[in-house]
Amino acid sequence: MKIGVAKEIDAAEPRVGATPDTVKKFKALGADVAVEPGAGIKSGLLDSDYEAAGATISADAVRDADIVVKVKRPEASEVTRYKKGALVVAIMDPYGNDAALKTMADAGVAAFAMELMPRITRAQVMDVLSSQANLAGYRAVIEAAEAFGRAFPMMMTAAGTVPAAKVFVMGVGVAGLQAIATAKRLGAVVTATDVRPAVKEQVESLGAKFLAVEDEEFKNAQTAGGYAKEMSKEYQAKQAALTAEHIKKQDIVITTALIPGRPAPRLVSADMVKSMKPGSVLVDLAVERGGNVEGVTSGQTVEVNGVKIVGIPNLAGRVAASASSLYSKNLLSFIETMIDKSTKALAVNWDDELVKATALTKDGAVIHPNFQPKA
Ligand code: NAI
Repeated sequence: MKIGVAKEIDAAEPRVGATPDTVKKFKALGADVAVEPGAGIKSGLLDSDYEAAGATISADAVRDADIVVKVKRPEASEVTRYKKGALVVAIMDPYGNDAALKTMADAGVAAFAMELMPRITRAQVMDVLSSQANLAGYRAVIEAAEAFGRAFPMMMTAAGTVPAAKVFVMGVGVAGLQAIATAKRLGAVVTATDVRPAVKEQVESLGAKFLAVEDEEFKNAQTAGGYAKEMSKEYQAKQAALTAEHIKKQDIVITTALIPGRPAPRLVSADMVKSMKPGSVLVDLAVERGGNVEGVTSGQTVEVNGVKIVGIPNLAGRVAASASSLYSKNLLSFIETMIDKSTKALAVNWDDELVKATALTKDGAVIHPNFQPKA
């Protein structure tokens, strides 16, 4: 059984799907591991580190691999290099990317989307959304602090008092909770909002203040899977009115609101941005799904009347070494379930709920029920 660790071809993707640590564990499971040269370098991992862990370094690492580990979905030029029947495990970004899924199906690979992993206890250790969102939430606050021309903590000095920064976190899932915790550690005064009622207690336990339209719809906004529903137009209008008043007084706004499989909800309008004081900063973590803030542009900091709207895609990639370390462990934990411990051979149980939930393509077809080609 051969595992190939791909070097990401997207120059903006510094993460890698295996570390020397997980290579050792794969070896112990009976796999041979080959790594493309330079695969880990942007995460601070040298080819020699992988070699010391028992991997071989080869430009052909993925060619005859039974399992290819990657960060991003392989492009056509990559997937045609893989052997037919190979398992490819990555963050596949499947929604709205039907053509890319077909490309993988046509190449005959079995593609697994790590972000579709069910959020059940057994799969917690494989949850890439959590491992990466947690770091993105942390990094969003660091980026905000960098773009902000003032200090976060209150400082009382002989020359005068610097007030604490006011930070408002919109969307309190994994990323939002870490953003709150990080902003608190830096000394900010933090408020937060979400549409799921369960969040209120979590926000308060971190020492922040919760703010939301708490009507009947709010009480039912959480799906059985723990995610938010798309809210009605009426709710969105009430939410916007509440937000508009609050946002005027904020220095920093961090937005993280997402709805699985849907565009990100628009939470901050251009008028709200205009109402903020010059020098204020918005960091939009939802930029890759269209953004929560009107005017956010991927890869840019847009300035409107002195207010900065920061749109950095892949914030977890800005803490690449930590992100790769956690992501690699997520992958190892999942792949481990597909290896027979006694025969040390690949043994995918296609009826396993984790496999069923994540498998996108197999034997030349798109097999995932959510992504069936339209008749
Ligand atoms: P996410 O990344 O899908 O969304 C981020 C946040 O945006 C969510 O809290 C969502 O409620 C919020 N949001 C959506 N629409 C909004 C709107 N219009 N206004 C304000 N906020 C809005 O969420 P994430 O981080 O994936 O977490 C979702 C849930 O899954 C949480 O309950 C989390 O605790 C839970 N979870 C469970 C895990 C497990 O059981 N293994 C692991 C990780 C998270």
